[in-house]
Amino acid sequence: MLSTPWSRGFGLQVPIVNAPMGGVAGGRLAAAVTAAGGLGMIGMGSTATRASLAEQLRQVAGRFGIGLVDWVMRREVGLLEDALAAEPVLLSVSFGTDWSWVVKARDAGIATATQVYDGAGARRAVDAGVDIVVARGAEGGGHGEVRLGTLPLLDAVLEAVSVPVLAGGGVASARSLAAVLAAGAGGAWVGTRLAACPEALTGESTRRALIAARGTETRVTRVFDVAAGLAWPRRYPSRVLSNDFVERWTERENELAADPAARRELTAAIAAEDLRVAPVDAGQGVGMIGDDASAGEVIANMCSGARSLLTRWGA
Ligand SMILES: Cc1cc2nc3c(=O)[nH]c(=O)nc-3n(C[C@H](O)[C@H](O)[C@H](O)COP(=O)(O)O)c2cc1C
Repeated sequence: MLSTPWSRGFGLQVPIVNAPMGGVAGGRLAAAVTAAGGLGMIGMGSTATRASLAEQLRQVAGRFGIGLVDWVMRREVGLLEDALAAEPVLLSVSFGTDWSWVVKARDAGIATATQVYDGAGARRAVDAGVDIVVARGAEGGGHGEVRLGTLPLLDAVLEAVSVPVLAGGGVASARSLAAVLAAGAGGAWVGTRLAACPEALTGESTRRALIAARGTETRVTRVFDVAAGLAWPRRYPSRVLSNDFVERWTERENELAADPAARRELTAAIAAEDLRVAPVDAGQGVGMIGDDASAGEVIANMCSGARSLLTRWGA
């Protein structure tokens, strides 16, 4: 199979970690990714609660990690403690600058990770004791800083720190996996490609939209967070499939924030999975999704294809 020094050291058969995706990467997807030889992560997003974490933990099997959003973890008292008590092998907390969680995880014997957007951010994380940094490029799906594309970022982070580096953002095929491993990543942090798998919590219409979308159809926006009144810091917009709501409100965020009808419209659309209005988080790698293959098939195909590409140069 395909492995790296990091994946072997971490006890994985393949160098794939599923990105913790709130509302998408539940216990069932995590179990499937782990069964395929990677590391399955349960993602707790902006609406995470202690009860929703407990529910996803009931579905997980085998080794797993947990990903939390910093400002949600601080609001939901007990969420971090519950995550630590579940004994994940990896705890990822992103979107924050207070590193007090790192010591708590280390004291519990749990490896730590966080997403970074430049070399200086990688150094700050490592100085705070984080074990693994995720170089998360601007082409990635969901929330994140839009600073550098995955390859220039990976280059800068590998230059800046000596801990293992995972590459996230646009890794959605054998080719992109081979590229980041050839560059020196210890593994890939794969979001969008796995969001379309049947084991994800993704609704049926959303999965069909991910399969149909082209890589040119994403937009970076804050409109869904503004309309929903979520406390996302401004520097973390989200990359989504463009739709009517995005087109209508982008660059009119102040007006949107003051429009209760827009919030009602969004809430109703999310409940009805009406994708003209509801958000679908997706990165530019969405164009590489051509079917609704299972997580095990996606991982096997990415890894065997990457291995063939990489061994071409070995001779
Ligand atoms: C549907 C979706 C939900 C996400 N939710 C979270 C989240 O809750 N926490 C987090 O740290 N990152 C989240 N992300 C970002 C991922 O961790 C990761 O940066 C991204 O998926 C990598 O790029 P890719 O989507 O191109 O693979 C999400 C991404 C997607 C696509």
